[in-house]
Amino acid sequence: MPSTLAQAIGWARAELVRAGVGSPDADAVLLAAHALGLSRGETEAKAILGAAEPEGYRELVRRRARREPLQHITGTAPFRQLELAVGPGVFVPRPETELLVQLTLDRAHAWRESGETHPAVIDLGTGSGAIALAVATEDPACRVSAVEREAAALPWSRRNLRGSAVRLLECDYRDVAPETAGRFCVVVTNPPYVPSGEVPEDPEVRDHDPATALYGGDETGMLLPCAAMDTALRVLRPEGSFIMEHAESQVELVARALADRGFRGIQVHHDLTGRPRATTAELPEDLS
Ligand SMILES: C[S@@+](CC[C@H](N)C(=O)[O-])C[C@H]1O[C@@H](n2cnc3c(N)ncnc32)[C@H](O)[C@@H]1O
Repeated sequence: MPSTLAQAIGWARAELVRAGVGSPDADAVLLAAHALGLSRGETEAKAILGAAEPEGYRELVRRRARREPLQHITGTAPFRQLELAVGPGVFVPRPETELLVQLTLDRAHAWRESGETHPAVIDLGTGSGAIALAVATEDPACRVSAVEREAAALPWSRRNLRGSAVRLLECDYRDVAPETAGRFCVVVTNPPYVPSGEVPEDPEVRDHDPATALYGGDETGMLLPCAAMDTALRVLRPEGSFIMEHAESQVELVARALADRGFRGIQVHHDLTGRPRATTAELPEDLS
């Protein structure tokens, strides 16, 4: 039976609540916006003005109620000023990772103040290209490289980075080419860091984010984060910065691993909800 947009959004909200979706109000409207090809605000205005339910909306809602990620259904994920293409095979960028971009931009700015006109930045494990592309877009003076290894993720990295100034290195971040040694001012990474025994509860994460993007390689989740630190030791310039996202529970493990490798100025950073989710550190001028 045909219904109004407002009635359909009300039905969708109830379906999503029943399915345990964490943000039923927003998702009901965003799926309608996707079906209509409009913004969220325009969709809400149309609903108030009595517009009709868009064709195909109910099927989109049913997919979401089966806990397919919203971003896989719409095909895009917002990240800072960007709308990134995402889908099966690639990690959906998260709002908390936006903090890493700001920390990178701040350090790039400091390098420029000290006379480095084009600070070199490298993003280890770029996935959708979120961090690398945001840095390159917001500070075009940076020379940004991005590393990704996974065959399923790479089509998304290529697609989002195409036409940008970011250089994509299709390899394991443990093996970045020796010619990059000592070249970078900033190494930034959101590596896989979930401990192997801690399977995420949310079906959107557990069943749809690639395992190769989630799990850090051992029971502490620290194997791949530590490998990123080892790469940073090789590719950073003296006094270069390392910036990494991690779980709240890993703050001390991360600080210890950085200190053991000779990093200095270790600082923990909190996300917008006040959780300690990133750590920065500097390579000393002389590591010996
Ligand atoms: C948590 S996701 C982060 C993706 C993106 N940087 C973001 O923040 O949304 C980790 C990414 O690292 C990639 N990755 C995992 N191990 C890697 C390795 N050894 N070398 C290169 N990339 C790796 C995964 O495929 C995945 O895309």
